[in-house]
Amino acid sequence: MDSILITIVFLLLLMSSEARDPFACDPKNTSTNNFPFCKASLPIPTRVNDLIGRLTLQEKVSMLVNNAAAVPRVGIKGYEWWSEALHGVSNVGPGTKFAGQFPAATSFPQVITTVASFNASLWEAIGRVASDEARAMYNGGTAGLTYWSPNVNIFRDPRWGRGQETPGEDPILAGKYAASYVRGLQGTDSSRLKVAASCKHFTAYDLDNWNGVDRFHFNAKVSKQDMEDTFNVPFRMCVKEGNVASVMCSYNQVNGVPTCADPNLLKRTIRGQWHLDGYIVSDCDSVGVFYTNQHYTSTPEEAAADAIKAGLDLDCGPFLAQHTQNAVKKGLLTETDVNGALANTLTVQMRLGMFDGEPSAQPYGNLGPTDVCTPTHQELALDAARQGIVLLKNTGPSLPLSTKNHQTVAVIGPNSNATVTMIGNYAGIACGYTSPLQGIGKYARTIHEPGCANVACNDDKQFGSALNAARQADATVLVMGLDQSIEAEMVDRTGLLLPGHQQDLVSKVAAASRGPTILVLMSGGPIDITFAKNDPRIMGILWAGYPGQAGGAAIADILFGTTNPGAKLPMTWYPQGYLKNLAMTNMAMRPSSSTGYPGRTYRFYNGPVVYPFGYGLSYTNFVHTLASAPKVVSVPVDGHRRGNSSNKAAIRVTHARCGKLSIRLDIDVKNVGSKDGTNTLLVFSVPPTGNGHWAPQKQLVAFEKVYVPAKAQQRVRINIHVCKLLSVVDKSGTRRIPMGAHSIHIGDVKHFVSLQEQKLGIIKT
Ligand SMILES: *[C@@H]1O[C@H](CO)[C@@H](O)[C@H](O)[C@H]1NC(C)=O
Ligand SMILES: *[C@@H]1O[C@H](CO)[C@@H](O)[C@H](O)[C@H]1NC(C)=O
Ligand SMILES: *[C@@H]1O[C@H](CO)[C@@H](O)[C@H](O)[C@H]1NC(C)=O
Ligand SMILES: *[C@@H]1O[C@H](CO)[C@@H](O)[C@H](O)[C@H]1NC(C)=O
Repeated sequence: MDSILITIVFLLLLMSSEARDPFACDPKNTSTNNFPFCKASLPIPTRVNDLIGRLTLQEKVSMLVNNAAAVPRVGIKGYEWWSEALHGVSNVGPGTKFAGQFPAATSFPQVITTVASFNASLWEAIGRVASDEARAMYNGGTAGLTYWSPNVNIFRDPRWGRGQETPGEDPILAGKYAASYVRGLQGTDSSRLKVAASCKHFTAYDLDNWNGVDRFHFNAKVSKQDMEDTFNVPFRMCVKEGNVASVMCSYNQVNGVPTCADPNLLKRTIRGQWHLDGYIVSDCDSVGVFYTNQHYTSTPEEAAADAIKAGLDLDCGPFLAQHTQNAVKKGLLTETDVNGALANTLTVQMRLGMFDGEPSAQPYGNLGPTDVCTPTHQELALDAARQGIVLLKNTGPSLPLSTKNHQTVAVIGPNSNATVTMIGNYAGIACGYTSPLQGIGKYARTIHEPGCANVACNDDKQFGSALNAARQADATVLVMGLDQSIEAEMVDRTGLLLPGHQQDLVSKVAAASRGPTILVLMSGGPIDITFAKNDPRIMGILWAGYPGQAGGAAIADILFGTTNPGAKLPMTWYPQGYLKNLAMTNMAMRPSSSTGYPGRTYRFYNGPVVYPFGYGLSYTNFVHTLASAPKVVSVPVDGHRRGNSSNKAAIRVTHARCGKLSIRLDIDVKNVGSKDGTNTLLVFSVPPTGNGHWAPQKQLVAFEKVYVPAKAQQRVRINIHVCKLLSVVDKSGTRRIPMGAHSIHIGDVKHFVSLQEQKLGIIKT
């Protein structure tokens, strides 16, 4: 009897040891579970105040850092804030480990690839899966609940090593991605966070290490105009539309002030204007960096005080734990300032349910090991890769290949058997991989030759056997491009061409191939492949980005036509010559005719490109017609507005009665080809001219993805919010709506909408 009982108790202990113990308010401990801050029925601000009231300054300060200390006295455990989930749960931060029952997680395509799908529901779906797996791992004690993802900086310069992590070069696209992915991660229940996301790195951070300048020392000089209409847009949308629970400030300075010490950026913009409901965290050691590397303050206490007073709530790194108490002692900071920071982090922990006792008794408490790497999750990773791979060239058309005519395929190139390369950076451990070689092997007999030892491709020693393979096969697929040795965090590229002898290998193989030659590129940043675009022997080109754990299967599905590609480039592919007059340190978006500076992104640069933003082919053809659209739209303007504005042709957004004022377009999309396919509609607007040099030459105002079977037609409705999307930003950083004819472009369709000011009656006061 006794031994059975002991066995049962032992088994119970064993089972419970698999689940995470409560972070705080353990129901099993009557000496700590009766505090008001443990009462889930009380409003969160009341609970937060109660808890803060029980803590000493020293205890508070020890909680201002990523590895926040425990306060056993009140029953609170330590917490590691730093976890990452850029495209699936990652082990880059110390808060997450793959071990025991959680050896891996679903590894989605790198963000630049996923964004190329232009499918906001896909972005949200990926966020939902990543947070399911994150919660499961949290419950099992191997992950945190606070994820410092996504990276929503603008992909401003094609050389940036972290461009791969971003949603591309367009601010509205990046903002829409940010809001969608964050909603997926956090869930949409405002009273309860599934996990807490963080949009980073605020702001104008998009240089890692270029020509002797690194991110730890860089002072980004940014005009008010570029700040408002480019750099801050994704962050604003992340906070206001995504309701993100955190923003991370960056290493660099903006106009001479470290972003993590700038009250204008943190307190006034993120909190004051955008109303962040959450915490502001530093990049890792960035407070230490602005003291030690930038010498921004003369004492560490001043650095700690400046950061907290600017609005920083949490330090990734030890700096605030080391210096905040002395800063208070020296009178540089008050305990009330510390309380304010702590209130913001504690509030997020309470919204996550961390003070609600037993994790298993809470929402998401049921998620466990069987909810990670499920077939459904892995299928979504495959689907995301299929939706994100861009078809750049298809002469003949030579694609798709056929299993009948292309029974033997030469699979060549340093990325032809890629696995970890496919998941890019800020990844975790994937559930498994399908390499391009394996993927193609499902459709055809393969002859595999790497051609180069690695992507650096320093010699041509293996060219001979690659050419032989191409001579024997019915088709040749070259899988080339980059990996983290060429573009990564702290590794910006020096040029845009393929590394080493890669170009030579591609050209020689194409010349030797018996069948059609298809070039598949893996990369985060754009590559100048003008040679391949112009080489008639290279019949097809695909850009796969870094397509995630199932990338090779998706590439093969597109090559053999099981999937009809529908993705579009989320960034401009520039020729190498673009870099001639382009210091990476020059933050200006607009070109300068006096210096020959070319400007950046499709919105401002109008020189030659290899492939433009938004480019991407399909195996079918779509025709667009406008079914209905207004010709004239009145913009109601507040009667209080004085008639003496400096620019009557463009009214301030703050003077307009914006509400839901929008332009509704109905577009018919007809699939005139013979294959079912998905069309990505990109809607651009060209503002009226005559506003000085404010306006971009065009800007993306909407996008929509629609599946249309062959010969069928679908109607797509698009709403364009007038104030948000048709406004431009003047030199002083003021957003204005230009009156007059805005040209709306959808594919070949052009339509003019005239905006007209409608003065509302002046209210006498
Ligand atoms: C309950 O919490 C108090 C205060 O942290 C601690 O001293 C005690 O050991 C805990 N009791 C149990 C059974 O864990
Ligand atoms: C967008 O992605 C979702 C989720 O994967 C998918 O169900 C949907 O079909 C996609 N939309 C289109 C038009 O392809
Ligand atoms: C492809 O890569 C896998 C995993 O790295 C390896 O096991 C396999 O041997 C490679 N195949 C070839 C043909 O090189
Ligand atoms: C109108 O604005 C201009 C320039 O800002 C200013 O010089 C002028 O005095 C203003 N006129 C009136 C009537 O306010």
